[in-house]
Amino acid sequence: MECSPPSQSKSPRPTEPPLLLYGAASVVGLLTLGSLPFLVIPMLRGNALPYMNIPMSKYKTIFDEVLPRHMPRRRAGSPPLRFIDLGHGMGEAVVNAAQRGYVATGVELNPTLYLLSICNVWRHGILWPLEPRVRLVYGNMWRKDMELGRQDVILMFGVQSLMTRLAERLRSEAQHDALVVLYRFKLDLRSRASPTGAALREITGRDGSDEQAEIKILEVTEDGFSVYRIKKK
Ligand SMILES: C[S@@+](CC[C@H](N)C(=O)[O-])C[C@H]1O[C@@H](n2cnc3c(N)ncnc32)[C@H](O)[C@@H]1O
Repeated sequence: MECSPPSQSKSPRPTEPPLLLYGAASVVGLLTLGSLPFLVIPMLRGNALPYMNIPMSKYKTIFDEVLPRHMPRRRAGSPPLRFIDLGHGMGEAVVNAAQRGYVATGVELNPTLYLLSICNVWRHGILWPLEPRVRLVYGNMWRKDMELGRQDVILMFGVQSLMTRLAERLRSEAQHDALVVLYRFKLDLRSRASPTGAALREITGRDGSDEQAEIKILEVTEDGFSVYRIKKK
């Protein structure tokens, strides 16, 4: 007797939902949404930098190696040094500065990052806004009064296209002996373009009649930091 295999049904397999496709689309959608505050909005604003952070491990280099190398000796009982991060992102540099005793200010234009930076300082036990040594400013570093002239250390992780503008601002506003630390990008010290009138007023809020300072480069580290000192004539 012949044994025939059980007959197979010929009905078509039910179409499975393209889960992979949905998954991929969701990932792309989420990434796009997530990048809005960090990449797309800064690009549309024109005067803003996209968000990238200085790697965490490098804060130790800045605060415990680079700055002490160049910081003038201070008498016991001197008032705390003042630090500012122009475009503070998640506020990590502000936290590191505050933990080392600086009066630390950050300014941030991106509202999402600004809110995240508040969570970040809280996470480190800093009771902002009650803690007088930490100031987080929501705003534009180019327009607000950042009291640049009172800062001992000015940090910026910017882009090359902003370096001439930053140099001009430092020359006209920063105080004598202030240290400037830039990550990845360097000031263009060859260009001494001195915008006057409306242009300088736009950058500094001043009319250009102020005495301009010299900016001296102190070192460029292997970690990508350029360090400068402001010298008032
Ligand atoms: C390259 S990220 C550096 C972030 C942070 N300083 C760090 O190193 O981790 C530049 C930051 O500057 C902010 N930013 C860009 N333009 C700004 C402006 N005009 N005023 C204030 N913040 C600005 C951006 O939103 C971004 O968070």
